[in-house]
Amino acid sequence: MIKIAPSILAADFLNLEESINAVLADADMLHIDVMDGHFVPNISIGLPIVKAINSKYSIPLDVHLMISNPDQYIDDFAKAGSDCLTVHYEVCNHLNRSVDHIKSMGMKAFVSLNPHTPIHCLRDIVEYLDGVLIMSVNPGFGGQRFIDSSLRRIQELHEMKKTINPSLSIAVDGGINTDNVNEVVQAGATIIIAGSAIFKSEDPAKEIKKMKGLL
Ligand code: DX5
Ligand code: ZN
Repeated sequence: MIKIAPSILAADFLNLEESINAVLADADMLHIDVMDGHFVPNISIGLPIVKAINSKYSIPLDVHLMISNPDQYIDDFAKAGSDCLTVHYEVCNHLNRSVDHIKSMGMKAFVSLNPHTPIHCLRDIVEYLDGVLIMSVNPGFGGQRFIDSSLRRIQELHEMKKTINPSLSIAVDGGINTDNVNEVVQAGATIIIAGSAIFKSEDPAKEIKKMKGLL
């Protein structure tokens, strides 16, 4: 089963509750982008928003940390209600330690790769992960164009998954819409993260249904 995770970065922040309600029945989880203006050239949202969403909704919260020092915040995001925590390979000097820490707090551990980071960098850790998040745009902003070489990268990870960790989730994030979702899933994605395609459409629920219908 392919999961769809709407990225609330593209939601209406003045009416966040309304935006979430619009996707609740069709989404499998909510993707929350946390940016620090250092690892990525943008600042987004953080702990209070995760906490607020968690206080009202039981849908799984998938928190994507685009921050330079994720280790420092693992406990805080667990307490705020994150079910699944993604850290970037590029900023973790002791990745096994970070992954163990995330799991010890009861969350699923995902590691994300920027579009230029080789997939094989994960070979020796993939057996310990719940999932990998492949960035299909340079992280930092919603609404960017899908980088085509991402398809090859998803396939490469899919091959690695088959031999090392068949239960690995493969999330893909950035520039996904109804035109390319099928290719992304064919390549091996199991979780589709989409922001603008869903929240900037006239009918977010219909857009998710359309995506699912294409798979
Ligand atoms: C980008 C974020 C994405 C973003 C995706 O840095 O990690 O989750 O919200 O947005 P779209 O689907 O608009 O590319
Ligand atoms: Zn994201």
